[in-house]
Amino acid sequence: MKRIITFAAVIILALAATSEARIKVKGRGATMNFDPGSIPANFQASFEMMSKKCIKCHTMERTVIAIQTGRAPITGQPFDKQAVKAYGIKMLRKPNSDMNKQEIREIVILLNYLLDENAR
Ligand code: HEC
Repeated sequence: MKRIITFAAVIILALAATSEARIKVKGRGATMNFDPGSIPANFQASFEMMSKKCIKCHTMERTVIAIQTGRAPITGQPFDKQAVKAYGIKMLRKPNSDMNKQEIREIVILLNYLLDENAR
């Protein structure tokens, strides 16, 4: 009996872990974004900033798809941590990006976290 309970507990924990690991997405097309409810409290501020700053030239759909598929949708390049960093620097250099170094750093940390969560 004890064994069955232990086994059941392990299964429940495993299910809970997988359902929490994935970052949920809300909306379609232009309104698509990560579900704010699946972003932990310590990342909420960065998430809000990203949702404002990163929709100046295109929608969040591009970023969501890159995180979900691990591929940058326009160029087809792998979207891994190295790409996130390179892309952050690229954005920073765009004259009209309206972002500073600190903001880019926060967004890069957030995107790395999202990549980790989605890879689980
Ligand atoms: C100044 C305008 C501008 C801003 C602001 C901007 N982007 Fe972009 N983004 C672009 C352009 C233009 C492209 C098309 C490909 C390129 O130039 O890299 C693009 C492409 C992308 C891609 C696809 C890259 C590829 O290689 O397929 C992703 C992912 C992305 N942006 C994420 C972001 C994130 C995250 C932010 C906020 C940090 C952001 N963008 C802010 C202009 C912008």
